[in-house]
Amino acid sequence: MYDRLKRVLFAMDAEDAHTWVLRGARMVQPWRALWRQAFAVRDPRLAQKVGGVSFSTPLGLAAGADKNAEAVDFWFALGFGFVEVGAITARPSAGNPKPRAFRLIEDRALINRMGLNNDGAERIAQRLRQLKQRSIGPIGANLAKTHDPQILGDAAIEDFVQSFRWVAPHTDYIALNVSCPNTAEGKTFEDPEAFATLLAAIQQEKARMGLGTPIWVKLSPPQASSHLDIDGRLGEIVDLGRAGGIAGWIASNTAPDRAGLSSDPTLVASIGRGGLSGRPLTQRSTALVRYLYRRGEGKLPIIGVGGIFDADDAYEKILAGASLLQMYTGLVYEGPFVIKRIHRGLLRLIERDRWGHLSQAVGYRAM
Ligand SMILES: Cc1cc2nc3c(=O)[nH]c(=O)nc-3n(C[C@H](O)[C@H](O)[C@H](O)COP(=O)(O)O)c2cc1C
Repeated sequence: MYDRLKRVLFAMDAEDAHTWVLRGARMVQPWRALWRQAFAVRDPRLAQKVGGVSFSTPLGLAAGADKNAEAVDFWFALGFGFVEVGAITARPSAGNPKPRAFRLIEDRALINRMGLNNDGAERIAQRLRQLKQRSIGPIGANLAKTHDPQILGDAAIEDFVQSFRWVAPHTDYIALNVSCPNTAEGKTFEDPEAFATLLAAIQQEKARMGLGTPIWVKLSPPQASSHLDIDGRLGEIVDLGRAGGIAGWIASNTAPDRAGLSSDPTLVASIGRGGLSGRPLTQRSTALVRYLYRRGEGKLPIIGVGGIFDADDAYEKILAGASLLQMYTGLVYEGPFVIKRIHRGLLRLIERDRWGHLSQAVGYRAM
């Protein structure tokens, strides 16, 4: 069924196609009860409480697909167990010049350099407040620093804190996006010292506001499955995160490099810079999940994201240590029924392996 729609969408520029999908999603949202009947999978073996929040199913929508929280009802109606909106920044931003999203069809991948385009924390917080009043499901907010190379040092921290102040009261969790590859100034907060300062500032603000909002941290993928923490910085970040009271890790963001691609190198070169997502990330993000699970001795939960296209990909991440999952690129290539297929497939796999509940499989193959 998706094949026809996909042909139409794939004939357009990747961002235009996404804009059309969002527009359509907003139009059909009022019939969400009908959609839910077609798409939702409900089974107690998939329901979990993670980081203090209840999730009816483990697969969520990854950040970047609904930056402005415009179609949240629609995503839940498609069967996602949770939705992460954003990235949200303190100031509204138009992002990088277009075109800025590209498909690598042969690799089942996307490259994007959106550059944190969003309506800004204040406006998005209003939408989130209304959504929260209706309790439609767990909603996370992905926060990043406003895309402006002039905002550095203390101002960068204050920028994050400002977004937190607006958004955190209206979300079920916050994801600190310290790994966006698409800013001119680079990923300044994946430096351990800067990360520790940021985390302390956010935790202080959270305490001042009297909030219990769980803080998750989203990391970059490793260069390759075999290249984890070569310089020791990742290990330091992991220890700092644990000591700093985070709820868990999101592994991973897109990759700035072009490792493992089969697409024509001229095509890849013509696209230019941007974050790579989809199939080329499957193994790399799973390797990071496994590393985080081992390093943290399974004590902090992990959201596994990167190159999930089917239930086997999803299950690999669960066995590596992920309690929850997210997807974006797989949805573009496979269409909306993939969510149901993955949830049903996970049920089949836990039955095959004789787990009574999905959570029992978490980290089984991590050590
Ligand atoms: C077009 C696009 C925009 C994205 N924007 C964000 C973002 O704003 N914040 C973020 O943390 N991740 C962002 N991501 C990364 C995804 O959330 C996800 O971590 C990554 O794409 C790997 O998952 P996937 O292979 O299922 O797409 C974006 C990804 C894509 C494709």
